[in-house]
Formats: sequence, C-alpha cells, structure tokens
Amino acid sequence: MILWTFLIVFGLLRYGRAEDFPSLITANASIAVVLDQQFLGEDYQPVLDQLKDYIKELTRVELKHGGVNVHYFSWTAISLKKGFLAVFSVASCEDTWSLFSRTEEEQLLLFALTEVDCPRLPSDSAITVTFADPGQELPQLFLDFRTRKAFHWKSAIILHDDTLSRDMVSRVVKSLSSEINDEDVPSVSVTVYKMRHEVNEYLRRKEVHRVLSKLPVKYIGENFVAIVTTDVLSTLMETARNLLMSHTQAQWLYVVSDTHSRAGSMRNVISDMYEGENIAYVFNATDNDEECKNGLLCYAQELMDAFISALDAAVQEEFDVAAQVSDEEWEAIRPTKLQRRDTLLRHMQQFISLKSVCGNCTSWQVKAGDTWGATYRGRSLEPNMPKGNKKNGTKRTDINHTELLHVGVWRPIDGFKFDDVLFPHVEHGFRGKELPIITYHNPPWTILHQNTSGSITNYSGLLFDIVNQLAKNKNFTIRILLPDNIRHNNSNETARDMSASTISMLTMTAISKGQAALAVAVFTVLSDHNQGINYTIPVSTQPYSFIIARPREMSRALLFLLPFTTDTWLCLGFAVILMGPMLYVVHRLSPYYEAMEMSREGGLSTIHNCLWYIYGALLQQGGMYLPRADSGRLVVGTWWIVVLVVVTTYSGNLVAFLTFPKFEIPVTTVSELLESKSYTWSIKQGSFLETQLKNSDEPKYVSFLKRAEVTSATGGVEGNMAASSGAGILNRVRHNRHALIDWKLRLRYLMRAETLKTDTCDFALSKEEFMDEQVAMIVPAGSPYLAVINKEINRMHRAGLIAKWLSAYLPKRDRCWKTSAAAQEVSNHTVNLRDMQGSFFVLFLGFFIASTILLLEWIYNRRKKMVEQIVIKPYME
Ligand SMILES: *[C@@H]1O[C@H](CO)[C@@H](O)[C@H](O)[C@H]1NC(C)=O
Ligand SMILES: *[C@@H]1O[C@H](CO)[C@@H](O)[C@H](O)[C@H]1NC(C)=O
Ligand SMILES: *[C@@H]1O[C@H](CO)[C@@H](O)[C@H](O)[C@H]1NC(C)=O
Ligand SMILES: *[C@@H]1O[C@H](CO)[C@@H](O)[C@H](O)[C@H]1NC(C)=O
Ligand SMILES: *[C@@H]1O[C@H](CO)[C@@H](O)[C@H](O)[C@H]1NC(C)=O
Ligand SMILES: *[C@@H]1O[C@H](CO)[C@@H](O)[C@H](O)[C@H]1NC(C)=O
Ligand SMILES: *[C@@H]1O[C@H](CO)[C@@H](O)[C@H](O)[C@H]1NC(C)=O
Ligand SMILES: *[C@@H]1O[C@H](CO)[C@@H](O)[C@H](O)[C@H]1NC(C)=O
Repeated sequence: MILWTFLIVFGLLRYGRAEDFPSLITANASIAVVLDQQFLGEDYQPVLDQLKDYIKELTRVELKHGGVNVHYFSWTAISLKKGFLAVFSVASCEDTWSLFSRTEEEQLLLFALTEVDCPRLPSDSAITVTFADPGQELPQLFLDFRTRKAFHWKSAIILHDDTLSRDMVSRVVKSLSSEINDEDVPSVSVTVYKMRHEVNEYLRRKEVHRVLSKLPVKYIGENFVAIVTTDVLSTLMETARNLLMSHTQAQWLYVVSDTHSRAGSMRNVISDMYEGENIAYVFNATDNDEECKNGLLCYAQELMDAFISALDAAVQEEFDVAAQVSDEEWEAIRPTKLQRRDTLLRHMQQFISLKSVCGNCTSWQVKAGDTWGATYRGRSLEPNMPKGNKKNGTKRTDINHTELLHVGVWRPIDGFKFDDVLFPHVEHGFRGKELPIITYHNPPWTILHQNTSGSITNYSGLLFDIVNQLAKNKNFTIRILLPDNIRHNNSNETARDMSASTISMLTMTAISKGQAALAVAVFTVLSDHNQGINYTIPVSTQPYSFIIARPREMSRALLFLLPFTTDTWLCLGFAVILMGPMLYVVHRLSPYYEAMEMSREGGLSTIHNCLWYIYGALLQQGGMYLPRADSGRLVVGTWWIVVLVVVTTYSGNLVAFLTFPKFEIPVTTVSELLESKSYTWSIKQGSFLETQLKNSDEPKYVSFLKRAEVTSATGGVEGNMAASSGAGILNRVRHNRHALIDWKLRLRYLMRAETLKTDTCDFALSKEEFMDEQVAMIVPAGSPYLAVINKEINRMHRAGLIAKWLSAYLPKRDRCWKTSAAAQEVSNHTVNLRDMQGSFFVLFLGFFIASTILLLEWIYNRRKKMVEQIVIKPYME
C-alpha cells in the first residue's frame, strides 16, 4: 500500500516537472502566427496564403534540425497556454501591446509587425517592426528618439517649414506628446511654429527672424526641433545665433529631409559651428533605388527568416550540449524558458541587423556637432581668437575644422542604432577636452607648489577645489598657463618681480584676449570692469574687518586704590576729616567730666589728637584714650561700625582685583572706533573699500571715511594676500593705536603669521564685519561657458562644498583667537611685586613725608632754642 502511494506521488512529481520544463526545444517547438484580419482587411487572405507557403518552404530548406509546428490565428485574443515557443503577430499597435502584456506573463518571445507611429516594444523582450510607406517615417523616428531616451526633454519647440504637411505635423506632435506605457519615457509638451517657405534669401531671413524673435523661450523651454529644408537650415542656424538662442543651455535638433545619401558630405550643408552650441542633425539618407524592397510581406518573411535561423541555431546548440551529458545532468543544466527566449531574441536581433534588406533604402543619419572646447583643442598659445560675430557685444568663436560626430543611423526595421549620444555635450560636458586656464600663486585661493628647482609641481587652493569639481562634472581636463608664460609682449620683468596688481592686470588682459577659457584667480566684482571679461557668480564673499593692538592689562601701581571709586575715597577722606572735630566738640561739650570732677587734659582734649584718633581707628589701631562720657563713646562706637564695613569691603574687593587682571576696554566695532578719539586708521586710495564707503550714506561710514588717512595705492590689489600690509603698518598697529582695515580672512592670516613669528598675541580682531566684497573668477566676455560654470558653482554653493573647502584653508583656532586672553591667569594668580608696588610706594611716601616733618620739627626746635638764648643774654651781662 505504502509502496503504491510512493510510486504514484513519484510519478506525479516527474510528470509535473516534465510539463514545466520541456526537455529539448525540438520536442514541441510550436509557434503562433497571428494575422489580425481586422488590421489587414482585404489583404488578409493573400498575405495568409503567401506566408503559409513561404514558411512551409522555409522550414523545409532552412531548418536542418527538428521541426516546428505553426499555428495560424486571425485575431490577437488567443490563448497562450498551449506551450508556444514564440508568437509572431501582424496587428494594430494597440493589439500588439495588449498581446505583448500577455506574452510577457508567459515569458514568450513576441516578434511583431505593426503599423507606423507605434512605440516599439522593449527591445530586451520583444522585436517590433513598424511598417511605413517611404517618406512617412518621421513620426516613427521621433517616437524612437523618445523611447531610446536620446533626449531628456520636458518640452520642445517644433519649428517647421513647408516640408511637413499639416497631417504630418500633427503626427509628429502626437508621437512626441503621447503617453507611452513605459514610465521612464515622459511625454514632451510641444509648441509648434510654422515658417513660410520663401525662395528669396532676404525674405527667408526676415521670416525666420520674425518667428524666432517672438518665441517666449522663458515659458516654453529651449529645446528646439527644426524640421526644415537645407536652405532654411543655414538661415535658421545663423538667425538663432544672432538672437543668442543657440547657447550651452539650449538644444537644437535639426531634421533635414531634402538631403540625399549621394549629396556628399553633410558638412557642406552646415556652414559653420560655434563654441558652446548643442546641435544635432538628422539627415535624410534615403536612397530611392530601383532595387529597394519594401512591403508588408517582405518584413513578415524577413522576420520568419530570422526566427527560423535563430531556432535552428538554438536547437543545434542544445543538441550538442545534451549529447555530451547524461539525462540527469541535462535536467539540471538545460536552459529555462526565459533563457531560451533571450537566446532566440539575441540571435534574431543580430540576424536582422546584419542581413535585413527590407526598407533598407530608407535611412536617416544622425550627427552631432562637437563644439564645446573645440577652439582650445591643441591650440598654441598664440591667440587666433576671436572672429567677432555679427553683433559686436558678443564674441563667439567660429570653429574652423570640426567634423561632425557620427551618432547613429535609423532605419525602419529596427529603429536607431546609436554609436554615441545625441547631444554629446549635454550628456558628457566637454567630452574630456583640455581647457587652458590661467592662474597664479595667491593663497588661499590658489596655491602653486614648487619643487626645489623652482618648477611647479602641484596646484591646490579653494579655486582649484572648485575647478577640479567643475572639471569632473563637466568632463574636461585642465592645462595651466601662468601669466609669465603668456606675457610675450608685455614686459621683460619676471613674474616674481611683478607686483600683485601687475599679475592680475596681465591675467585680465590675457583673458580678454581669449587666451584661456577661465582665469582661476579671484577678482573683485566691480561694476565698471574691463569690457573684455565677464565675472562668474561670486565664489566667496569677503567681509571687511579691522585689527587693533590686543587690549593691554592696565597698570597695577594703583591697584590698592582700585577697590573704591574716586567718590568713595573722597567721602571717606571727608568723613575722617569731619569726624575729628565732631568727636572733639562732643567730648568738649559733655558736662560729664565736670560732674565727675575729672580732668579733660591729655587724650582727646585737642582737635589734633581727635583727628589722629579717628584716623587710627580707621586703620583699626586703637587709641590710647577713650572718652569716658557715653556721648563721646557713642560717637567712637559708631565710627568703629563704619570702619568695620569699609575695611571688610575694601579687603574683599582688593583680593578680587589682585586675582583678576584688569584690561583696557577693547574696540570691536566701527562705532566704538569712531567714539574712541585716540585711534587712527587708513584706507587705500582707489580701493574697493574706499569706493564702497564713498557710495554709502550711512553717517557712521561717512565719518569713518572722513577721519581715515587715505594712502596712495601701492601694489595693493584685490585678492592678494601678501600685498597689503608691510611691517611698518603692523608696528604702527602694535604701538601707536592704529587700526588696520582689510578682509577678515586676510587679517586672520596676518595674525596667524605674526603669532608664529613672535609667539605672542599682539592683535585683536574686531567683532564687526562691514562692507562685503565679492570675489569671482573671470572668463572672456561673451564666453558661452559662463552659464555652465555659474550653474556648477551655484550647485556647489548650495551643497555647502565651497564653504567647507574654504574652512579647510582658514588658519586654525589658536590661543590668540579670543579677543581677551585673561582666562588663563584667573585660576592661578600668585601675587607678585607688580601687584604690591603700590603699597610699597605708599610706604615710601610715608617715610618721605615723615622725614620732611622731622626736619621741620628739628628746625623749629633750633629756632626756639635760639630765641630763648637771645632772651637770656641781657640777664647774664
Ligand atoms: C527622404 O529623401 C527621399 C529621397 O530624396 C524622399 O523621397 C523622401 O520623401 C524624403 N523623406 C522625407 C520625410 O521627406
Ligand atoms: C538594399 O538591399 C539590396 C539587396 O540586398 C541591395 O542590393 C541594396 O544595395 C541595398 N540598399 C542599400 C541602400 O543598402
Ligand atoms: C563693431 O565694431 C567695429 C570695430 O570694432 C565698429 O567699427 C562698428 O561700428 C561696431 N558695430 C556696432 C554695431 O557696434
Ligand atoms: C567624458 O567624455 C568621454 C568622451 O566623450 C566619455 O567617454 C566619458 O564617458 C565622459 N565621462 C563622463 C563622466 O561623462
Ligand atoms: C622639479 O620638477 C621638474 C619638473 O617636473 C623636474 O624636472 C625637476 O627634476 C624637479 N626638481 C627636483 C629637485 O625635484
Ligand atoms: C625691459 O627692461 C628695461 C630695464 O629694466 C627697460 O628699460 C625696458 O623698457 C624694458 N622693456 C620692455 C619692453 O618693457
Ligand atoms: C559680460 O560683460 C559684458 C560687458 O563687459 C556685459 O555687457 C554682459 O552683460 C556680460 N554678460 C553677462 C552674462 O554678465
Ligand atoms: C599654576 O601655575 C604654576 C606655574 O605657573 C603651574 O605649575 C601650576 O600647574 C598652575 N596650577 C594650576 C591649577 O593651573
């Protein structure tokens, strides 16, 4: 019983597996041929008959291994469960796609022949052949552009002349804007403009100008499709250039239908190309030969040829493998349904691309202009620039010897065969070309590293970080020019001797002559600049700031006076002076002594003694005598309380002052600088700062400029670190209450350098930043790449890359960073002689006064004795 069950289950398993994976292709190779009767209409019966005969003959002759069962259907809604190997369909576009969705489920190979204007099925799982009468293929061409993702457009502007009939225009529009099942292919919104065809050259120019100048490109985008004849083509290209519509951000696809495969090089048609354009051409290379084959049946037969050839090859291959291995092994390694489909598909595609002849007369050549950076390619340093365009303001460069890039070929049977991308510069930027750039040493923007023999080995700095990123994103390499390489006609001094302003002027001149594509150096963005250059968007914004000498510690000679303010000291002095007489009066008037019959002699009986007593009490030294009367005692007692409070406050405060050094109040803003009358500052004549201050009407800056010393400009140039401040001015800042005004960045470098040199922190940076100065790189005026560079710099700004790079070049925080550097001493201050000098000074003063008084007393005494002697003498006589 158990044995039986086992056998049945085993048998079922085997049967199931055999059903899922047909062992050899030949075992049941069958193909469904769907000829949609509705689609073919009257042609149905003849086509069916001819195809049947053809396939019968074909299998007999070509299929050397195994056989194939062909099932014919007359509508597309067939059941695919019958284990077909492949489906061949001739049906409408809609039916083909719905059939495709079902063959996909069953992992079947579909090769379909369908009407024109049908998006092709995905080429990795099916083959689509669209059949069109010659001359009707343009819409299909655009559809294929879209499905092959040759451009990534959201909108397009179609400009056409009479080449395109109204019916064709609507088909082209539809093929660009229709929804496609594939989600990766967005539909393009299309605007159509028609140009009248004028035979007269002048009228044609006028007509083209009329249409182009009115295009609202801001709203409808800058992707142009021009479907025109050759004579309009050149007019259109020229007009587009003159209207500045053919630039790096715009894409022009010219479709030229009246060219001919035998008309010779397409290059003749295109008059010239300019730097920075994105131009692609689609030329009609149709050859209306007598031997051209065409027609539905031709395609059908060709597809069957391809299939039978693929099947034959696959069968042969499987036989060969199966013959070498055992049955069990074959079970394990034989191809799955999907693998078989892919093998067949690849073989068929190869067959078609190599051997197809149907409709081979119709073909379109796709070319692209390789314009970006072409002028700089292999150019010597000698400028051969710039042949001005018709408009004076914009110098655009004509590229003399540029070949068109071969992009691909289109033919009806399998659409495009691309060898390159349609818009090479949109996809690949400069395509690895070498661009010359000018630079010079100017840290931290550009740092040129020299080896010991003086040749430059490496480049770094913020601008090189930016340019390297730019080069990576836009796919170019850089060739460095130094200003002393290009100064052939300027001067005979070497670059090292040149002042910074000379170098920057040289660089600007070289750029305006177009000797380099970009100057990698910082230039202040000025409104009245050299006409030959254009600034990029600012790479950095540099605020101005100033440094002054670091606030010094105040003298400690009078430290012992500091705990009390002047008025406190005055009050205290008055109190001492007043308390003496007060005590005397109270003591004197008190009737106590009479009542007790005591004498008032000695002690506090004189004002002099009272004063000394009060003073002594202030210093907490008790006098020898105290009043006996309560009134007097109360006066003395309350004085003691006052003394207690005063002394405690004083000593407490004194400790604090001993511990915390006291500093001058730092000047950190422009207003404070203006308020403190003692400071001076200077501004370079003709500098950016002076101009900005002059233009400002804020009262603060007006008086700031008025009080500044204006120095003549010597060597100082925007952007150069070393130029601005000599040692002289630094010493002035250190010792003479001078404020040095400059970029905050530059001041930081200066402070750092001085700290390293002297190992002290002599300077303090102001807190306030004022008058931002923007610095940018420069390109030749009208350079087509300004927009490209700006876009990239903008992107780097927004990603925070530039700020990050710049911070890496800034001086590191060091101990001089903080404005006041008192903190380190606070916790650990030992009282030294400097702190105590004041008390010794007082002691000395006391001695001095005491000796003076001693002298006076001695003199007084001598006088008194002499007077006595004089009085006595007459008595002796
Ligand atoms: C392409 O050129 C051929 C031969 O010159 C012409 O018959 C055909 O109409 C052209 N195609 C289009 C779309 O104009
Ligand atoms: C098209 O195919 C035929 C037959 O193979 C051939 O004679 C003809 O030269 C081909 N035409 C083109 C333009 O390739
Ligand atoms: C263009 O420049 C040339 C020479 O520099 C000058 O003679 C001509 O007047 C300019 N044309 C215009 C339209 O500015
Ligand atoms: C740079 O250009 C070359 C030449 O066209 C291209 O092969 C390469 O893919 C491009 N690289 C990038 C990152 O686009
Ligand atoms: C410096 O670099 C140059 C060029 O790379 C090289 O020829 C020279 O030998 C180098 N000198 C030293 C001292 O490394
Ligand atoms: C070259 O230098 C000399 C002396 O330094 C000077 O007199 C001469 O004018 C310079 N030549 C040029 C072309 O600048
Ligand atoms: C380039 O500079 C010229 C004058 O030097 C100016 O007229 C033009 O507007 C600038 N272009 C851009 C894009 O800023
Ligand atoms: C105080 O200063 C002395 C010498 O200047 C040093 O050795 C000691 O570590 C300091 N103590 C503290 C707590 O900072």
